[in-house]
Amino acid sequence: MKLIVAIDGYASCGKSTLAKALAKALHYIYLDTGAMYRAVTLYFLENGINYEDSKAVEEALKNIKIYFKCVDGQTHVFLNGRDVEREIRELRVSEHVSQVAAIPAVRRTLVALQQAMGQRRGIVADGRDIGTVVFPDAEVKIFLTADLDVRTNRRYLELTAKGIDAPWEEIRRNLQARDYLDTTRTDSPLRVAPDAVVIDNTLLSPDEQLEEALRLVRAAQERLCH
Ligand code: DC
Repeated sequence: MKLIVAIDGYASCGKSTLAKALAKALHYIYLDTGAMYRAVTLYFLENGINYEDSKAVEEALKNIKIYFKCVDGQTHVFLNGRDVEREIRELRVSEHVSQVAAIPAVRRTLVALQQAMGQRRGIVADGRDIGTVVFPDAEVKIFLTADLDVRTNRRYLELTAKGIDAPWEEIRRNLQARDYLDTTRTDSPLRVAPDAVVIDNTLLSPDEQLEEALRLVRAAQERLCH
């Protein structure tokens, strides 16, 4: 039986690294929900949509089509037919995405899409509300956390490797600001689901964190078999 694995947690704490590795190991689909909020944010920025204007947001949402496609063995997010995987990681998007993700109409639209994508199960999804709102019945729920400076270092290296220029201090400020906005918003704030397992990966390697997650998946499979 195929499971749903929900991974939530703070900004840049390795959710996507774990989700991708887990999806690969289990032959499941990886769903990067943060990429969807980023793609909507990019659309608003490019089209001069004032996201504080709820009418403009509702109208704009009708013109946005988001889907995922495999490009060179990696899942890329597409916005109205355009591969925006690289652009959505830029700091200009990171600086607005938490405000956009706090808008109920945006959340309603994207959560419906995510739930449709999860219908066939066999999915590893990462985000902020996966275990609490999108897939409350997920068999495995993980909440990831890590030290802020360690997260800043990881993000800095990731962006530099992609050729995206971003000062370390600015990245740290952005992670802190997003964590604040994501945990304090009214609509589906980032929370530890009551049945989630918290993993602090500050001192864990990607392989160690994968091992721990695989243990949780095996335990869930055992539970379901008996
Ligand atoms: O995972 P990420 O850093 O790419 O996510 C970008 C932002 O999107 C994050 O700061 C909050 C928002 N987000 C959300 O509100 N709910 C999700 N399920 C995923 C992301």
